[in-house]
Amino acid sequence: MTEQLRLVEQALSAWVPADAPAGLGEAMRYGVLDGGKRLRPLLVLAAAQAVQGHEGAALRAACAVELIHAYSLVHDDMPCMDNDVLRRGKPTVHVQFGQAQAMLAGDAMQALAFELLTPLDAAELEPSLQARLVGLLSRGAGYSGMAGGQAIDLASVGRQLQEADLRRMHELKTGALLQASVDMGAACGVADAATLAALSRYGHAIGLAFQVVDDILDVTQDTEVLGKTAGKDREQSKPTYVSLMGLQGAQRHARELHERALQALVASALPDTHRLRELADLVVHRQH
Ligand code: IPE
Ligand code: IPE
Ligand code: MG
Ligand code: MG
Ligand code: MG
Repeated sequence: MTEQLRLVEQALSAWVPADAPAGLGEAMRYGVLDGGKRLRPLLVLAAAQAVQGHEGAALRAACAVELIHAYSLVHDDMPCMDNDVLRRGKPTVHVQFGQAQAMLAGDAMQALAFELLTPLDAAELEPSLQARLVGLLSRGAGYSGMAGGQAIDLASVGRQLQEADLRRMHELKTGALLQASVDMGAACGVADAATLAALSRYGHAIGLAFQVVDDILDVTQDTEVLGKTAGKDREQSKPTYVSLMGLQGAQRHARELHERALQALVASALPDTHRLRELADLVVHRQH
């Protein structure tokens, strides 16, 4: 997927403005460029490829999801949330530019995501697809998705949640944007309802698996490899799959979700899902 990664890096660099007022562009580019696995954009492009979707539309959708994700990281790291100083191997945006600028950079990244999905020249992206993509991304990002999950996360500090509540928190704060990535890629092509539902089940399973593995890596990996501070969850008394099930229980659960994702790909009956399969493998076998 080296070629897809190159396309995404190039498009993000072209679309995130350097010349936003009063240094805002510099803070935005710092938060978005140079780092990040770009898993969400790769999922959009892989899902679009599986349904022979429109490539230009998929690239816009891919960058839009990454912008929402990058904004969520900028805010997640701020002192009022997880209070982290390291992200993607660099000082966090608020450390580098101050809290107010970090907050505004996140705000502007969120808005830019929707600008990419609604180009002024409608020939760039067909209006009904614009509306569909905006609908999927806003729901993945908002109160019933990432932002809602982050609210649960902050309200759960110091508490041990039951499995159902922990699952809901993870599905929202992390799973929703990953599932939206798959749904947005699928929306760029043509597929019947059963295929779309199967792809969405795949997105749901890897979305949850992704945060289970994030919880695991927080205890098993070191800061250098992660590019963010290891051991934060215990330090901040966050309920995680590791604190709920133990390390081995969490690893077993990640494998079950991986299997569920692969089964959904089979159920999709699509002829070419090899990239989606590889991305599912990456989600559970990654080292950072
Ligand atoms: C980290 O996401 C935050 C979570 C939602 C768990 P990633 O692990 O995808 O971070 P980057 O984009 O590669 O930096
Ligand atoms: C973050 O979860 C989820 C987001 C929506 C950003 P974490 O707080 O565990 O993510 P990291 O470990 O800081 O990347
Ligand atoms: Mg957090
Ligand atoms: Mg965090
Ligand atoms: Mg984490």
